[in-house]
Amino acid sequence: MTTQNQIRQPIVTVCGHVDHGKTSLLDRFRGSSIQSGEAGGITQKISFTKYPLEKLKDSCPLLEQNKIKLEIPGFLFIDTPGHAAFTSLRKRGGSLADLAILVISIKEGIKPQTAEVLQILKHNKTPFLIALNKIDNISGWKNKENLKDSIENQAINVRQEFEEALLTFQASLSEHGFESDLYYELKDFTKKIAIVPCSAKTGEGISELLFVLSGLCEKFFKEQLKISENTRGVILEVKKDKSLDCTEAILYDGILKENDEIAIASFGEIIFSKIRAIEEIEPLSSKYKSVKSAKASTGLKIHLTKKENILSGMPFIKLTKDNLEKIKEEFKKEISEAIQCDNEGIIIKADSLGSLEAMKYLLKEKNVKIIKAGIGPINKSDIISAKANLDINVLNAVVLGFNVISEEDSGKEIKIISGNIIYKIIEDFLIWREKKLSQIEREKMMSLANLCKLEILPKYIFRNSNPAIFGVKVFGGKAKANITLINETGETIARVKSLQLEKEKVEEAPEGSELAIALPGVAFDRKLKDTKYLYSDITSRQFKEFKKNKELLSSSELKILQEIADIKRKKDENWGE
Ligand code: GTP
Ligand code: MG
Repeated sequence: MTTQNQIRQPIVTVCGHVDHGKTSLLDRFRGSSIQSGEAGGITQKISFTKYPLEKLKDSCPLLEQNKIKLEIPGFLFIDTPGHAAFTSLRKRGGSLADLAILVISIKEGIKPQTAEVLQILKHNKTPFLIALNKIDNISGWKNKENLKDSIENQAINVRQEFEEALLTFQASLSEHGFESDLYYELKDFTKKIAIVPCSAKTGEGISELLFVLSGLCEKFFKEQLKISENTRGVILEVKKDKSLDCTEAILYDGILKENDEIAIASFGEIIFSKIRAIEEIEPLSSKYKSVKSAKASTGLKIHLTKKENILSGMPFIKLTKDNLEKIKEEFKKEISEAIQCDNEGIIIKADSLGSLEAMKYLLKEKNVKIIKAGIGPINKSDIISAKANLDINVLNAVVLGFNVISEEDSGKEIKIISGNIIYKIIEDFLIWREKKLSQIEREKMMSLANLCKLEILPKYIFRNSNPAIFGVKVFGGKAKANITLINETGETIARVKSLQLEKEKVEEAPEGSELAIALPGVAFDRKLKDTKYLYSDITSRQFKEFKKNKELLSSSELKILQEIADIKRKKDENWGE
């Protein structure tokens, strides 16, 4: 088997929001019904479809009608469950996929998950086209043989509904930085994104989708599709199950044979392993069959002589006589880039190199700094790193985990946020950080001054003077030792010497509590007999500080602040201005 001048199958990832119809579209391409056989109709893991040229010609009569001769030997389609696994489909410097089909339901448009996929496509510079799916959901839609005819000859109200949905979609796509056009109006496929309306349900637009896809590959990517002597691929999943003893991988260049030796990147030493056996995905099937050698692009199960410490998303390269040094250099760069971090920030963990990279990129977009990034479960060392942040910046005492479990109890101080949707993890983190930040600011503000309103309980006068001891109810805010109290006319009464709550001396007492306070230098019968409320005294500067941060105050604290200001302004109308 030689590779001279051979063109491999373009790798095409089908991605998009959950339930927008990725698997159904692939079923239409294949003429299969995998979607209905999936548990709950939900794709659980990445799957490949080797899509041969004959089938392509069959499903896309437009190729023959337009007398198009293709050089590509078909496609390797990759179906992804949501976008989670999609992020692990990467190779050095970008996406593993030569192209992507972004499936979007016309009635739903760009969902947050789609927005995230768009960001990753942009980051990886992956060319893509859009399958605007489920057009049959537009009420009154009638199929025609030719999609362009069909779009242009619907009843007026149907056409209008379609146009509106299309324009809305294009506008939001444009907000994400992509200009687009209907495929048949598009002049320059390198400048704008092609939109192919379609329906996986009725089959409309399927031929057009395959036609645009084939055209793009022939026109723009043929050079990059030439198979080289440099055999390389990406590990997708390592089967933990001992009996299976195999590793799923995508071979995206060259030829891999039984007994070949490969180098697999890792965080430690490079892993060298021989290929004991190869199983290759069969065309239009999800079954694998044993082969002696396999040629890119293809999906494989490889049986390795060594498989300890192999991580998903890691690249592998076939060893030749003289490429070891190059491999070492390349892997070193790759790994150091993946785990390179800032000198302060949060800790992140992910299940694969690709998802780690995606997470880093998306966090960077939100200006979040990362001090440590790694693959695998959240472990003791991650918690220790997060704990070290407690002293530096509490807002960074966080571990974010994507598709990983936590092996360690984090305790109360460390926040762990994990899940299997990156945007959700980041959103939750940003919300947590915002809350934490206001909590910290509030604590800081409250440590400078105190807000409280006390109601005197005249039935509980325990001692008239030296010091006066009597009962109060905390009407609002917090009672504290050492605060200075004023009365309703703004006269300074005394500084609180001590508080007693249920016979215990306390430093502070919350809203609603009833307690005894001791005030030195006051005689209750002379100063307080006719007083109903006491307030904490604050300075004009403190008032302004509170006012500036009023969103950090509770509604009762805000009310007290207003009452204090009213009292103060009776004496000095410019107080707090
Ligand atoms: P996940 O793999 O779970 O992310 O979903 P998916 O994107 O693969 O979607 P799937 O193909 O499982 O389709 C989801 C639902 O939409 C199923 O009930 C399909 O029957 C339905 N569906 C898919 N395409 C179309 C379409 O063109 N029209 C209509 N009306 N329904 C569709
Ligand atoms: Mg699916």
